[in-house]
Amino acid sequence: MCGIVGYIGTQQAGHLLLEGLTRLEHRGYDSAGVAVLGASGSALKVAKQAGRVRDLTEGLPKRFSGRVGIGHTRWATHGPATDANAHPHTDAKRDVAVVHNGIIDNASTLRRLLADDGVDLVSDTDTEVLAHLIARSESDTLEGRVADALALIEGTYGVAVVHADFPDRIVVARNGSPLIIGVGDKEMHVASDLAALVRYTTTVAHLDDGEMATLTATGFTTYRQDLTATANRAQTIDIDPSAYDAGDEGGSFMHREIHEQPRSTERVLRGRLDERFGTAHLGGLNMDARETRAIRRVKILGCGSAYYVGQMGASLVEELARIPADAEAASEFRYRNPIIEPDTLYVAVSQSGETIDTLLAVQEIRRKGGRVIGLVNVVGSAIARECDGGIYLHAGPEVAVASTKALTNMFLGFALLALQLGRVRDLSIADGKRLIAGLNRLPEQIAELLEREDELAEAAARLAEADSLFFIGRVRGFPVAREGAQKFKEITYRHAEAYQTSELKHGPLALIDESVPTVALVPTDELTDRNVGAMHEIAARRGPLVVVTHEDVDLGELDAVRIDVPRNERELDPILLTIPLQLLAYHAALRLGLDIDKPRNLAKSVTVE
Ligand code: AGP
Repeated sequence: MCGIVGYIGTQQAGHLLLEGLTRLEHRGYDSAGVAVLGASGSALKVAKQAGRVRDLTEGLPKRFSGRVGIGHTRWATHGPATDANAHPHTDAKRDVAVVHNGIIDNASTLRRLLADDGVDLVSDTDTEVLAHLIARSESDTLEGRVADALALIEGTYGVAVVHADFPDRIVVARNGSPLIIGVGDKEMHVASDLAALVRYTTTVAHLDDGEMATLTATGFTTYRQDLTATANRAQTIDIDPSAYDAGDEGGSFMHREIHEQPRSTERVLRGRLDERFGTAHLGGLNMDARETRAIRRVKILGCGSAYYVGQMGASLVEELARIPADAEAASEFRYRNPIIEPDTLYVAVSQSGETIDTLLAVQEIRRKGGRVIGLVNVVGSAIARECDGGIYLHAGPEVAVASTKALTNMFLGFALLALQLGRVRDLSIADGKRLIAGLNRLPEQIAELLEREDELAEAAARLAEADSLFFIGRVRGFPVAREGAQKFKEITYRHAEAYQTSELKHGPLALIDESVPTVALVPTDELTDRNVGAMHEIAARRGPLVVVTHEDVDLGELDAVRIDVPRNERELDPILLTIPLQLLAYHAALRLGLDIDKPRNLAKSVTVE
């Protein structure tokens, strides 16, 4: 949430910062700004405004030169998206410029104190106080001034600071919001996300919480907030920069990411399946067989779609390993003073590895002595680093706000976990091998489904006309319905509600008429007949139906759009049922002419509570 970039080196900073911001826009896109510093003695130049990075680029003053600078793309927390609230924020004399990601919890107290002291606050933001506090510090160094200001602040932050009196440096600090330093040739970069760095360098250092750094054109140093040195070193990472390039020919990352799934699913499975013993090998869990056998419960925590996939994962664990498992929204978990049990395995699931609610849940569990593993996509992210072990999802960079390929790999991560847990318990070798064969079939089956995009686009066109829709499913299908509704509402802004098919008659059926379509999940399973019965009840009330089902399901004389998905092992059904729902949401949003990758009010990583 909110993107930060910084550059110091031999090139003009302005255009590099704007390019970096364009690549970070998925983190927040309601306003953007940059500040640059020229040669010693020259004034700080700031350009910022509400709107997208492209608006800022078009409006950038002609004379905007400087080889040091910082930039920001905002997702509003304090105050609406206005020019004044856009970052960077400055002090009254315009010596200091600050960009910030996070939330300053004691901002209103600090704003009051500053105002009482005669400071004229020109924005509604929490961040502005930082600029004034840095300006008021009497330390001789910029590092000291920033540390003085941070000492007064409660909350989370990734910050980058430039100062007209110290034009040879950028000072950055992290507490809860990611910051990555990129080492170039006679230049240094900093950003809140690798997306902004990989075009320039793959030699990077992740700052730790509580750590600060000074970047000069020739290198960087890291230290704690008491200014004592730390030993953070840059490492070269293996990453394909083109993975962060703009979306496919339609221009959408979401479409590209949906179509990457045949390959990305192969990556999460690669090297982890043991066909001989019908099990999975997950070395990163950091648990031996005795510890694995001692697990009595599995508790999965995630937010939004990661929570819904967590529910799919809980079913997998219960079915395959016969361990009681459930999923809970990480955002609620720690507020109900949960009982942390030593024989429970806690699983945090997150694409970004940054979601603050999930991170705080992990910290709460670990504080109370619980063991947490992470199912995380972004390598080296805060959640990955905080956990006792984990499974990297290897989905590759995911840029679209609506998550697709990462969720699919989360499901497969749970399948691998359930397989490994199951095989040290009662899961037979035959069942283990059956599951492995099913997992190996999945990439091709996903590819097969994606080839039927036109069919799904047609169905989506009808759904796009409705103001309100239901997504329904039962047991394994219910989390799929929740995820389908989530994806649809997220990018089409239509009201989409998920319900258990079995619960329809207990209330929501009252809403069904010809204007309210239902997307129903009717796989071949022990509930098929009951589900088909419910479809007829909806049709009898003239409710339009899209039924996502298997070829062998007999829907009778039902008036419905039918989408058959390939059959796999029943435990793996949820993921093949989910793929068409991604395309339904995508094509409905496309038809409505919406900005698919950057839906209103949302951001890719939710780093504020
Ligand atoms: C998914 O489409 C959503 N954008 C959102 O619900 C997301 O899954 C959630 O915010 C969790 O993100 P994470 O996986 O990065 O933790």
